[in-house]
Amino acid sequence: MIENEQLQHWIDRVDTELVRYFANKDMSCNPLDRAMEYTLLAGGKRLRPLLTMVVVAEFGKDPEAAIPFALASEFLHTYSLIHDDLPCMDNDDMRRGKPTNHIIFGEANAILAGDALHSEAFLLLAGAPHETLSAAKRNQVMVEFCEAIGKRGMVAGQVMDLAQTGQETSQAQLELLHQRKTGALLRFCVRLGAHLADVEQNDLDALTAYAEKLGLLFQVVDDLLDEESDSTTLGKTSGKDAGQDKATFPKVLGSDEAHDYADTLLEEALSALEKVSRPLSFLEEIVRYVRHRDH
Ligand code: IPE
Ligand code: IPE
Ligand code: MG
Ligand code: MG
Ligand code: MG
Repeated sequence: MIENEQLQHWIDRVDTELVRYFANKDMSCNPLDRAMEYTLLAGGKRLRPLLTMVVVAEFGKDPEAAIPFALASEFLHTYSLIHDDLPCMDNDDMRRGKPTNHIIFGEANAILAGDALHSEAFLLLAGAPHETLSAAKRNQVMVEFCEAIGKRGMVAGQVMDLAQTGQETSQAQLELLHQRKTGALLRFCVRLGAHLADVEQNDLDALTAYAEKLGLLFQVVDDLLDEESDSTTLGKTSGKDAGQDKATFPKVLGSDEAHDYADTLLEEALSALEKVSRPLSFLEEIVRYVRHRDH
């Protein structure tokens, strides 16, 4: 859990709005809404929406106005988790402390719930009202979203993840894999906040550099936690990566070196923040949390 009242407040706002989103279920298509909300509302750190809201707030704009946009990333992320857990992918039976979506709703409904979360994310980004976001900026947001989540980003990373399982992997290949499967969406979330706040180009560049380090760091730590933590703390099955011979940083570098690498990425992310034209204490706190989190 993140130990900062303001950050926790924004996480709570995300949770409240997610609950509100499913307040009126469409029972004509039972069990779609239930399957979507099952994994979405099961918990989760809400790091992706938090990043967007924090960037907006750090630049003096209203984070409340960013919420529908921020939710889009959580919808997209949750779809990726549901599909990641499928028997044909990582074959996991625990997610966010509960049985995985396909175990409760069956594989077909889990795939379809993921598909619907995916398109709902586009609906939010394309359709949510915003007083100052220009049509051109919104279009840029949509383009960057597509780049982050598909064949240039997350989906490519997931394919690399599957292809590299059981193989020898170089550090360079692994960095590319992690940047795509996890880093690209986190990078998008930071840049989304920057677009909503209409920041200057220099700040956008520095924030992007921060986000790239944070994104890679996030997955290095995910790999380390899989090896070092337990399923109850994680809310998902620990030890899965070694069991499946996944391409991970502990596998490629060894655990001690993977920890050193994570420390280096943290320092690099903090250095990138120093290049932004204003102090960004919340973003600093978030990247420290990403390094030292326990789940
Ligand atoms: C897990 O993401 C999947 C990865 C991209 C490594 P999170 O660790 O952010 O999962 P939740 O959202 O907190 O459940
Ligand atoms: C999942 O990576 C990344 C995406 C869902 C895009 P992992 O397979 O490492 O995530 P966990 O460990 O199952 O959460
Ligand atoms: Mg996976
Ligand atoms: Mg997995
Ligand atoms: Mg993992």
